[in-house]
Amino acid sequence: FIPPSETSEDGGILAKDQLGNPILASQLLAEAPGSRALIAGLAGEPTYLTVREDETLSPMGIVDNCTHLGCTFPWNSNAQQFQCPCHGSLYDARGRVVRGPAPLPLKLTRVVVKNEAIWLYPWHELDPRTGERPWWV
Ligand code: FES
Repeated sequence: FIPPSETSEDGGILAKDQLGNPILASQLLAEAPGSRALIAGLAGEPTYLTVREDETLSPMGIVDNCTHLGCTFPWNSNAQQFQCPCHGSLYDARGRVVRGPAPLPLKLTRVVVKNEAIWLYPWHELDPRTGERPWWV
């Protein structure tokens, strides 16, 4: 199920829940720091949003699409890892590969909060995890 998206003039889409209702930043920020919320992202790609220690949303949305063969995966809060159930790849909290066979870090989406609304944009900037041009651009 891919909920309808609203788009902004500058190419963003509004983050919505599975019922198609906009998700307010305050809803997510009511959760404990370190919490992850899975939402429908750009092009319908499920994307994890993260509540940071300073009780803001991380600007890095992490796309729930394993870079090995594209499985979706859960966040394991005990291990502080994304753990792909298909072939055992592990990623750290920022989406860097801890164990293969995944060859690349997880794709990022830019997350911007404006007046309680959460907007998602394609990530074209350098990947802050590698300092390099993103592999998905
Ligand atoms: Fe994730 Fe293979 S698809 S490890």
